[in-house]
Amino acid sequence: MLLFSLLSLGILGAAAQRGQNQTRECPQIHVFGARETTTPQGFGSAKTLVDLIIKRFPGATSEEIIYPAAGGDVYSQSVGKGVLAVVKQTSAFAAACPDSIIIMHGYSQGAQITDDAFCGGPDLPSVNSSISLVSKTTAKNTAAIILMGNPRHVAGLPFNVGNATEPGFAARPANFTCQLFQDRIRAYCDSPDPFCAKGNDPATHQGYGLEYGKDALDFIVSKLVAN
Ligand SMILES: *[C@@H]1O[C@H](CO)[C@@H](O)[C@H](O)[C@H]1NC(C)=O
Ligand SMILES: *[C@@H]1O[C@H](CO)[C@@H](O)[C@H](O)[C@H]1NC(C)=O
Ligand SMILES: *[C@@H]1O[C@H](CO)[C@@H](O)[C@H](O)[C@H]1NC(C)=O
Ligand SMILES: *[C@@H]1O[C@H](CO)[C@@H](O)[C@H](O)[C@H]1NC(C)=O
Repeated sequence: MLLFSLLSLGILGAAAQRGQNQTRECPQIHVFGARETTTPQGFGSAKTLVDLIIKRFPGATSEEIIYPAAGGDVYSQSVGKGVLAVVKQTSAFAAACPDSIIIMHGYSQGAQITDDAFCGGPDLPSVNSSISLVSKTTAKNTAAIILMGNPRHVAGLPFNVGNATEPGFAARPANFTCQLFQDRIRAYCDSPDPFCAKGNDPATHQGYGLEYGKDALDFIVSKLVAN
C-alpha cells in the first residue's frame, strides 16, 4: 500500500523542493494531461480537471502529453505515438524529480494512451506488449490516474464510475486486470457516450469534467492524504 502523505511531503507548506541534481525546481505535485482526438495541442477537455487540481494544490505544475491526438485512418498510429509520449515524458519527469508526486489525467484518446502506458496492452496495432511500460519511479510516484471517456472501457472493472454497461470501441477484454494500478485509477463512462460505450450523445463524452471533476478531485485528495 502506497502512502502519499501531504504532511510528510510538506505540501501544506509553501516551499518547493529541489530535485537531486539541483538543476531544476521540483514541484510537490506534477499533473500530466492527455487530450482527446482532433483537439489542438494543449489539455483539450482534460483542462477542466487539470485546473481544479492546480487550484486545490497551489504550486502544483502541469504538463501536456505531446502527441498527435489524430483520428480516422491514423488513429491507431496516434495511439502508439501517444503511449510512447506518456512513457517518455513521465520517465523524464520522474528521473529529474524523484520526490515529486505524479497525477495522470487522460481524456478520450488521451485516456486510452494513459491506460495503455500504465496498464500495458495489447492494444493492436498500436501496442503489442502486455506489460506496463512506465518507469519504476513513475509507477512508484503516481498517486492517481483519472480516465474520462476511455475507449478501452469495459464493464466490471473495479475502478469504473458511471452507468455505462456497453464496451468502448477499443475495449479491454473481459478478463483484463490492472493489478499494479487499479487502486489508483478512477475511470468515468456513462451509457450515452458513443466512444467509451455505445450511446449516441457526444455531449456526454465532452461533459465529464463538469459532471465528475469534483468527484475526481476528491478521489485524488483521498490518495494524497495518508490514512
Ligand atoms: C539533471 O536533471 C536534468 C533534468 O532537469 C537531466 O536532464 C540531467 O540528465 C540530470 N543530470 C544528472 C547528472 O542526473
Ligand atoms: C507489433 O508486432 C508486429 C508483428 O511483430 C509488428 O509488425 C509491429 O510493428 C508491432 N507494433 C508495435 C507498435 O510495436
Ligand atoms: C446514465 O447517466 C447519464 C448521465 O448522468 C444519464 O444521462 C443517463 O440517463 C443514464 N442512463 C441510464 C440508463 O441510467
Ligand atoms: C484473456 O482473453 C483473451 C481473449 O479475449 C485471451 O487471448 C487471453 O489469453 C486471456 N488472458 C488471460 C490472462 O486469461
